[in-house]
Order: sequence, then structure tokens, then C-alpha cells
Amino acid sequence: MSNTTNDRKIEHIDVIQKDSLTDRGGNHFDAVRLTHRALPELALSEVDSSCVFLGKTLSFPLLISSMTGGDHPLIRQINQHLAEAAEQCQVALAVGSQRVMFSHAQARESFKLRQYAPSTVLLGNLGAVQLNKGFGLEQARAAIDVLAADGLYLHLNPLQEAIQLEGDTDFSNLSEKIQHIAQGLDKPVLLKEVGSGFSVQDFEKGLAAGIKYFDVAGRGGTSWSRIEHHRNQSTAQQQGTNSNDLGLCFQDWGIDTVTSLKMLNPYLNKATLISSGGLRNGIDMIKSVILGASICGMAAPFLKPAMQSTEAVVAEIERLRREFNTAMFLLGMKDINSLFNNQSLILK
Ligand SMILES: Cc1cc2nc3c(=O)[nH]c(=O)nc-3n(C[C@H](O)[C@H](O)[C@H](O)COP(=O)(O)O)c2cc1C
Repeated sequence: MSNTTNDRKIEHIDVIQKDSLTDRGGNHFDAVRLTHRALPELALSEVDSSCVFLGKTLSFPLLISSMTGGDHPLIRQINQHLAEAAEQCQVALAVGSQRVMFSHAQARESFKLRQYAPSTVLLGNLGAVQLNKGFGLEQARAAIDVLAADGLYLHLNPLQEAIQLEGDTDFSNLSEKIQHIAQGLDKPVLLKEVGSGFSVQDFEKGLAAGIKYFDVAGRGGTSWSRIEHHRNQSTAQQQGTNSNDLGLCFQDWGIDTVTSLKMLNPYLNKATLISSGGLRNGIDMIKSVILGASICGMAAPFLKPAMQSTEAVVAEIERLRREFNTAMFLLGMKDINSLFNNQSLILK
């Protein structure tokens, strides 16, 4: 296994393709049951799922979550396909960690996505822990500028870093550094996990740091612990050493997405929530909006189509839109405002 930030992305994609159990499932959304309306009192064609996110109108509340970036033809292609499809369908797109462009200048190309997505919401991404490794406002501004982003995600991934042999595990005093970044940028900073969810304590720390957007990225989807376990095994094999099972032990660690959304629901007057982590269809999306999310993120479901073509990504987005609009119709809901945080739609 390689140690460079640039090669790591390709290794992650490889592991996800080979091991379907990196997508953990858990059916957390199945436990949320909705009130079907036999008499919806509207026409399916009347359903309007458009919404506003970061000042831009999206055709429905979908965000293609952070995945890739780097100096590799496959990575450049994935990002181009995602950006073209996001623009065509008017949904939001976040890029993967941009740390790589500071160690491999050629990686910048993979993030120049405004040329393919001139109007829709684009979000940059850096690991918050890098703020303890010399990153600061300069890197945050560069990350935004390269894709003319509408905002910057700072991801929190303590579990992944703890499992990685080469992980950065000093997460001390990060919230004050996050605050410094949030205050110094003229675009919003969004905090996200990467698959282990957000607690109320994390949320309150973020709020105190001036953050207004939180992506819960909860347990139930892609498990970084399991992915890093595979990388550790390969390294041990190459080096002829013993590997450990730490990554397997923690593969289902964390707060699932539904629980995280429920825990943060009382704070909706203070922040905008993004639901991600294990959403796999339009029904999971609609449940997220009903639980108070303004937008819904998905990563893993877009990986395979993004490796194929822009059309394949568009087809995946259209599947989700059709499912989402059908669910709105069956709940008798005409627009997003009537869905958002509408607890009466949950079957008790
Ligand atoms: C291939 C792949 C690469 C990812 N890379 C990043 C990343 O660089 N930065 C980040 O914040 N999250 C990253 N994620 C995490 C996702 O953005 C998301 O938070 C998480 O996977 C949960 O969504 P999912 O269950 O729909 O995959 C990645 C996910 C995948 C599948």
C-alpha cells in the first residue's frame, strides 16, 4: 500500500469495488414509517420538489457527497462526470478532500469543476485535522478558489485516522481553529463527519465556533473503518508483518444517520442540517427532510456511475428524483416547505 495522499484515493475506490460490505446498511431508515395517503388530493404532476440551498435553487434536495480528487486520469474523469451531471440536473456536488492539491500541484486540475458546472452548488473539502498540521486560511481559500465553490466542507474523521497506519490522530483544540477558518472566509464553512454521525456535543462545539451547516454523515453507509482495515491488511502482507483487526472491530461504530438527525432536530432554528450516511433511495431522502434535513447527501451510490459516464450519473439522479417525487405524491405533499420537519407525516 502506498503512503501518498494521491494514491490513497485510488486504493479506497478499489477496496469499495471489491468489498460490498464496506456499505454497512442497517436499515435505520426502515424504522421511520410514513403516513400513506390513499387520497392525496393532488396530481403527481403538481409535485414541486425544488428547494433553495446556499442561495441557489436546486431541482430537488440532492447533494452528491464528497468523494474524489487527485492527480489520476480516473479521478479527473469521475469528477468531470459528476460535475456535468450535477449541472444538467441542478443538484449540488461536493468534491473529495483537496489536501492532495497542496502536495501534488497537478491534482488541482481534478478540482477545476466550474467549467463543467457553471451554475449549480459546488462545495470544497478539507480535513479539519489538517488544521493541526499547518493548514490554515491560506489553504482554505485556495480550496474554495480552485472550484469557485459556494462553501467549504471541513470533514471530521477521527475513526478513519485512528485506523489508518499513517493517520493524523491529533484532534486536540480543533474547534478554535475551525472558528478561525469560519471567521476568515467569505463563504460558509460546513462541518461533516464521514460515516460515524454527529452528537449534540459535537454540534454545540460547532455552533460555538460559528458553524451554521452540519452534515451528520452517520453510520449505516460507507464504513471507513472497514475500508482502512483492508488497506492495513495489504500493507501487512507486503511487509510480511501481522495485521490487526481494529478496523473490523469498529466497522459499525458511531451514531446512525436517523438517530443523529433526531438528536439535532431541536436545534433547527440555529443551523441547517444535511443528511448523509447510508441514504440509498428517494424514500430515505424524504424521511431525512421530514426529520429536519434541508438537503440529502449520497456518496457510494454515485461511485460506479461516475466511473462510467455523465449519462450514467444523470440516470442515477433521475432514479432518485422519481422516487422522491413519488413519495411526495403519496404523502399528499406539494412542495418542500410542507415536508420540511413535518413530524405529522411520521406514523406513530
Ligand atoms: C469513494 C469515497 C470517497 C470519499 N472521500 C471523502 C472525502 O475525501 N472527504 C469527505 O469528507 N468524505 C469522503 N467520503 C465520505 C462521504 O462524503 C460520505 O460522508 C459518506 O460516505 C457517507 O455517505 P454514503 O453512505 O452515501 O457513502 C467518501 C466516500 C466515498 C464513498
